[in-house]
Amino acid sequence: MKEQLESLLATAVATLQQQGTLPADASVRIQLDRPRDKSHGDFATNLAMMLAKPAQMNPRALAEAIIAAIPANSILAASDIAGPGFINFTISQQQLLQQLERAYADERLGVERTATPKTVVIDYSSPNLAKEMHVGHLRSAIIGDSVARVVEFLGHRVIRQNHVGDWGTQFGMLLAYMEELDTDALNMELSNLETFYKAAKKRFDESEEFAQRARELVVALQSGEPKCRALWQQFIDISLSHCQEVYDRLGVQLTRADVMAESAYNDDLPNVVEDLRKQGLLVEDQGAQCVFLEEFKNKDGEALPVIVQKSGGGYLYATTDLAAIRYRQNVLKGDHLMYFVDQRQGLHFQQIFTLARKAGFARPDLQLDHFGFGTVMGKDGRPYKSRDGGVTKLADLLDEAEKRALALVQEKNNTLTAEEQLNVARVVGISSVKYADLSKNRMSDYIFDWDTMLSFEGNTAPYLLYAYTRVNSVFSRAQVDPSAIDGQFVLNDERELNLANLLVRFNEVVHSVADKAMPHFLCGYLYDVAGAFSSFYEACSILHHDDEAIRQSRLKLAALTAKTLRQGLALLGIPTLEKM
Ligand code: ARG
Repeated sequence: MKEQLESLLATAVATLQQQGTLPADASVRIQLDRPRDKSHGDFATNLAMMLAKPAQMNPRALAEAIIAAIPANSILAASDIAGPGFINFTISQQQLLQQLERAYADERLGVERTATPKTVVIDYSSPNLAKEMHVGHLRSAIIGDSVARVVEFLGHRVIRQNHVGDWGTQFGMLLAYMEELDTDALNMELSNLETFYKAAKKRFDESEEFAQRARELVVALQSGEPKCRALWQQFIDISLSHCQEVYDRLGVQLTRADVMAESAYNDDLPNVVEDLRKQGLLVEDQGAQCVFLEEFKNKDGEALPVIVQKSGGGYLYATTDLAAIRYRQNVLKGDHLMYFVDQRQGLHFQQIFTLARKAGFARPDLQLDHFGFGTVMGKDGRPYKSRDGGVTKLADLLDEAEKRALALVQEKNNTLTAEEQLNVARVVGISSVKYADLSKNRMSDYIFDWDTMLSFEGNTAPYLLYAYTRVNSVFSRAQVDPSAIDGQFVLNDERELNLANLLVRFNEVVHSVADKAMPHFLCGYLYDVAGAFSSFYEACSILHHDDEAIRQSRLKLAALTAKTLRQGLALLGIPTLEKM
């Protein structure tokens, strides 16, 4: 709908250019917004205000000219001018009904596939394996996974990449500690990587001899010494299986096959440095190999270096990321590389993207995007910590989510068996954690608060999951099979129209999530749909309406609402429940 209207506007602008009302070189991006207030129509644009200056016209007069130049069509019911020159459009009901029927008949609920399928490589989760996953690893996994689902749903080929950190100096310390333990002690200690890391770190800080051994082991590891490699592999396997447990519990679609670890690029790192040298980009600075990029300057106006090799010969995080860009472009054949990594790494990504282009590692048309996100905060306004002040292991956090959800489910007087309660608690608990994250603008920090995320009121997972079961209950109460509904949509009541107008927007919302990598657009939308359904359901009788045509139409609205909620939640990586 939006696209059709935009193309009508583009035609109007072109006509005005031909007539000389607008200068031929006046270029604008035609952009339609949703007015805040429904009484202002379905779409609004500030086009006339943008073009007033080049046209040397008063914006309201230009708005009139634009409206007059829109070709005859069956989409628009009204076009009005508001304020200093906004144009508001109202879509015709005929059009709404057609779209609604189309969405209803379509298993994709009207969501169009992309006309230009691409290979999209999505880097997400990507934790360091030295420690167990903690609360700081939530956002990348959850947001990245949702965007991957959406991009895939639109018909792109998605390649997931879990760029785990398995190669830094920390591993020397861990290996040195492993060496010291006998088999039994080792197996025992490795069952909790958090305490294992702490114990190793303690040894490292206390004993110079141990620290020396740790440094030797890093060298041995990186040069491929077999015994050292085997020990390291044992550690990595355990750490990865911890990650996999977390992914499975979270419903994050990553598997072992998506792991492309930092170590996998090791052999290519000398080539990266050599190729930068050949391009004349390298400068030696205090023994380190650097590239100075004029695009990034410090406070004193000096170009910042990207260090690609340390004075001792070691390589860095940036070197590996340069190798990874080449791999994703040349081997995986990616057209678009997306990175879901903490906002604090923004500069790192801007630097390596710029450098990759300069060095010819990235084709000019390779799309490179770092999608950052804010920090998960505690109620005290500081990064979230566990009660003892340490970092919270994700596994423990998810246990707590399930436990709290179970208490909620048991408290609600219901007819579920004990086994059903456990299942509902698992879905509600995990979904609440995910949804609390997804529903916030990813660029902001957010406060991790059990009470709000588990609330049945507001824009939360419990609210939406419950809303879904309520919509479905319409069919059991009416004793109709949703697939047996028959007849056309008839919309009279304002609440029916409101719900219908939202339902036909699903396509637009899903596409905007993919374009901006912003899942909270979808959350806000689903929350609106659930709210609109509930107003509709309260005001418009379904079961007892004596006009069969209206009854059928209302059942159809309910059925499309249920499908939209279900599909929308699935794109967020949240399963629905049939009863709760
Ligand atoms: N392992 C890194 C960290 O924990 C994140 C890696 C993100 N991906 C990348 N290609 N750099 O900070």
